[in-house]
Amino acid sequence: MSRLVVVSNRVPIPDKTGAAPAGGLAVALEAALQERGGLWLGWSGQTSETDEPGPLRTETLGPITYALTDLTRTDVDEYYFGFANRVLWPICHYRLDLAEYARREMAGYFRVNRFFAERLAPLLQPDDVIWIHDYHLIPLAGELRRMGFKNRIGFFLHIPWPPADILLAMPVHEEIMRSLSQYDLVGFQTDHDLENFLGCLKREGMGQALDEGRIQTEDRIFRGGVYSIGIETSAFAEFAEKAAGNPTVRRTKRSIEDRKLIIGVDRLDYSKGLTQRIDAFERFVVGYPAYHGKVTFLQITPKSRSEVPEYEAMQRALAEQAGRVNGSIGAVDWVPIRYINRSIARPVLAGLYRLARVGLVTPLRDGMNLVAKEYIAAQDPEDPGVLVLSRFAGAARSMKGALLVNPYDVEGIAHALSRALAMPLDERKDRWRVSMDDLLANDVTRWCDDFLRDLG
Ligand code: UDP
Ligand code: G6P
Repeated sequence: MSRLVVVSNRVPIPDKTGAAPAGGLAVALEAALQERGGLWLGWSGQTSETDEPGPLRTETLGPITYALTDLTRTDVDEYYFGFANRVLWPICHYRLDLAEYARREMAGYFRVNRFFAERLAPLLQPDDVIWIHDYHLIPLAGELRRMGFKNRIGFFLHIPWPPADILLAMPVHEEIMRSLSQYDLVGFQTDHDLENFLGCLKREGMGQALDEGRIQTEDRIFRGGVYSIGIETSAFAEFAEKAAGNPTVRRTKRSIEDRKLIIGVDRLDYSKGLTQRIDAFERFVVGYPAYHGKVTFLQITPKSRSEVPEYEAMQRALAEQAGRVNGSIGAVDWVPIRYINRSIARPVLAGLYRLARVGLVTPLRDGMNLVAKEYIAAQDPEDPGVLVLSRFAGAARSMKGALLVNPYDVEGIAHALSRALAMPLDERKDRWRVSMDDLLANDVTRWCDDFLRDLG
């Protein structure tokens, strides 16, 4: 079997504080690579002290060899905080209003991709299969091809792909699409994302779909497909069962007393619909007074990308909003919203999900959303909770047992909360079973195997 070489911007090596970064890509890839082994190259998460990125550091942990590079301050600003997170992220999440395009940052993005190719080149063997991940590294295959590499190269986009009317507003959309055509296989989370991608090619006269997933562009034929990412379902379910003994989980259980727990877990990101979610919770408590004092909403929201102005502004706005709602609907012996800005380790999260009667997952737009899947996997089969899920999360395509909501419809979410909390045990079990069966059949190993089979 050929060696697998994975490249992603984010790698799940613990940071200076010992905490692993939160985020679906790192979690899913870690699970997939633990099974197969291979080389994983990415950013260390550190900014070098000088104008030089310093040497590549390799470290082997179990079956995975990590190769990590620092980036210079300018690189991090232009490539990561700049083009990747102020242009590609908002555009791919349908937020044209938040995209801030600057030529200097776009040039930095392409420059850092070239730099990743230069770091990778000396490590590559001719029969390596290379798998590149996410919006930070779209031009990487093109750079490797220019250097003469003929290896199989696949790409998986973890986030949504927008419709043509949105993508075309990005000044360099043609170059980004052309970069994707340099791969042998490009994977998307859902059929909608693939359709949007093909629609963009067609609108710009840059290519067209042939049969069997093949796509013809000006100079190449490559393949596109749908590979919905999963989780390590059985292992996560075991975590959740074991977590009952975890001290944090036990203390949380005691502290909520006999109240019903509603849980939300998201990086602090405008795509996650957090403002509308807190509004909806307030509307629920006001509109269904029987639940006054009888529910706790635990929202775990680690800070993310804080140097991007839109994220920084959101941090302040959400803290203020949660405080205002607690002040307005709370009582001397009841704090309705527990709003936490810390990252919680997944084995503990698993236990918290299991305590919660409702998993509230309401992104305005999300590639997949692993939290929705983890919430289901963590439930007690004899007394499962209910997933309230945004129809605009990729996970909504397969989580057929969830109560689907429109995340912009605050009253609709409030109503779904009342339905979930009042749902009889039989219906909860039936709905949970439907979603859980899908998660067991389509776990992260299947995602990885399907993609690599098609790439090979
Ligand atoms: N996560 C975590 N600790 C936290 C919050 C999140 O480990 O405090 C993990 C969570 O368990 C999930 C991932 O981060 O595996 C988030 O993935 P998701 O697809 O839901 O969203 P993303 O952050 O990738 O947009
Ligand atoms: C999403 C993206 C990932 C990213 C993660 C965390 O899951 O698809 O590529 O790693 O968010 O964001 P961060 O900017 O901290 O890597």
